[in-house]
Amino acid sequence: MKTIVAGNWKMNLDPAQSIDLVSSLKAGLVKFPNTECVIFPPYTSITLLSELLSGSIIKLGAQNIHPEESGAFTGEVSALMIKNYCSHVILGHSERRIIFGETDDFINRKVLTSLKSGITPILCVGETLKQREAGLALSVCLDQLIKGLAGIKPENLSQVVVAYEPVWAIGTGMSASPVIAQEIMGSLRNQFSEKISKEISEIPFLYGGSVNADNAIDFAKEKDINGALVGGASLDANAFIQIAKSMVDGK
Ligand code: PGA
Repeated sequence: MKTIVAGNWKMNLDPAQSIDLVSSLKAGLVKFPNTECVIFPPYTSITLLSELLSGSIIKLGAQNIHPEESGAFTGEVSALMIKNYCSHVILGHSERRIIFGETDDFINRKVLTSLKSGITPILCVGETLKQREAGLALSVCLDQLIKGLAGIKPENLSQVVVAYEPVWAIGTGMSASPVIAQEIMGSLRNQFSEKISKEISEIPFLYGGSVNADNAIDFAKEKDINGALVGGASLDANAFIQIAKSMVDGK
C-alpha cells in the first residue's frame, strides 16, 4: 500500500509566500519509496507552483472543485481548469460541509467529476464531537463514505483516497489518539468492504486532525493508517518534512 502525505494549506499564503514555502520543501524533502507528497495551495498559487515543481517529487493538488465542467458558477473552479496542474483534489472536507453547507450528494458529484477528469479525489469523512459523544462516530463516517463514493465502479475505486478527519480534531491541537483513529479507520474499511465493495481494502486511508511533527510517527504505526492529511503543520516546511519522514519510518 502506498503512503500519502498531504499538506492542506487552506486559505493561507499569497503567491510570494507560497514560493518561499515550496522552495524550502524542495530543498528538504527527499524521495521516499512508495510515498507521495502532495501539497494543496490556494488556487492563486497553483500555476506558479506547477512551474516551480516541474520534475520535482512534490505533487500539486487543489482544495476543491465544482462538479460541473464550466458555466455560470461565479467564484467556482472546475476540474478541467486544474487537471493539467493538479494530480489530487480534497473533497468533502468538514470545513466545506459545515461552513459552506456541502451535502453528501454534492460531494459525490464532485468525486465522480474528479475521477472522470483523471484527478485523484481525497474524500474526507469525520464526525463532530456531539456525534462522537452520542456513539455515532462510525455510523456517521460510514454513511459519508458510502454516499461520497456512490456510483463508482469497483474497478475505479482504486483511484480514490479516503481521509478520516474527526471534526473535533481539526485545527484544535487535540488530535484523535492513534488507537481511536485506527479503530474507526479499520472498521470503515471492513464495513464498506462487507456492504459495498472489497476493493476498498486496496486504497490508502489517511488520518487528519492536528497531525504534527511529534505525533505523526504514532499514527504511521497503525495498521489501517496509510498517510496523513496535514493542515496547520503543513505551513511549516520543517514540520511537514518531519511528518513525511515519520509516516515512512513508522510503517
Ligand atoms: P489541522 O487540519 O492539521 O490543522 O488540524 C487538518 C485538515 O483540516 O485537513
